[in-house]
Amino acid sequence: MKVTVVGAGAVGASCAEYIAIKDFADEIVLVDIKEGFAEGKAMDLMQTASLNGFDSTITGTTGDYSKTANSDVAVITSGIPRKPGMTREELIGINAGIVKTVSENLIKYSPNVILIVVSNPMDTMTYLAAKATGLPKNRVIGMGGALDSARFKYRLAEAIDCPQSDISAMVIGGHSDVGMVPLIEKATRNSVPVAEFLTEEKAAEVVEATKVGGATLTKLLGTSAWYAPGAAVSELVRAIALDSKKMFPCSAYLEGEYGLNDICIGVPVLIGKNGIEKVVEIELSEAEKAKLNTSAEGVSKTNGLLSVEA
Ligand code: 2OP
Repeated sequence: MKVTVVGAGAVGASCAEYIAIKDFADEIVLVDIKEGFAEGKAMDLMQTASLNGFDSTITGTTGDYSKTANSDVAVITSGIPRKPGMTREELIGINAGIVKTVSENLIKYSPNVILIVVSNPMDTMTYLAAKATGLPKNRVIGMGGALDSARFKYRLAEAIDCPQSDISAMVIGGHSDVGMVPLIEKATRNSVPVAEFLTEEKAAEVVEATKVGGATLTKLLGTSAWYAPGAAVSELVRAIALDSKKMFPCSAYLEGEYGLNDICIGVPVLIGKNGIEKVVEIELSEAEKAKLNTSAEGVSKTNGLLSVEA
């Protein structure tokens, strides 16, 4: 499998590192616009191969997309990250043009590629990539829910005081501080509803802490997080590589599923060799449906800025 990662910054390099360490890809190509940066990151990562025990080859290029030719998967992390106090949506002015150009460059050399979009505002950037490339909807995946779900599990395990491996939990909706929908009613500790371990007040705190998980880290780090985003991407790429049909919440282009149309937003999907193998329509409570619809309104509003920005 050949994987391209566009953007050799913290998120992109973490994507490449985790993909390499999990050792399911033959080749990883890092792309950046900063002279020598992707080449340097690739070389540094390759010098961990004997230490971390992987055989994937990692190379870097400064803007030469011919080096990405025939990629099976391409991850788009390019663009600017947010600063403390910013919303993801505020990045659209700069990131829309970058994501559009990057998407077009990628499919020029890899017409059969599966795109995974990370750049923010992610749901809108995923929608933009889908429209700009005209790729079939199964081959444009937005990574947000997998990351948000990891943060949800972290907060639940912290609140319950149990190993994260005990927790099963999912976040759907927009990858947004206000719009994401942690499915607290469905979360379990080893098949037992978390409500049996948490007060309603504590559960509400966990939901809120999850929603601002990205902003919390941006405040601490001075920039967006990178380890968990990189790890989340690597799990989506691995599911494609192994054709595992694993279920993740991903931003997917909807045509009526969940009553939503012409939008990319986080819903449960099965990920396999074809990218999004299936959108899974799970039973939502009335409250969950209402939250998803409100989230979709927010994503659509941000999408409406695209005609101006891109
Ligand atoms: C995050 O939530 C970068 O949007 C990403 O950390």
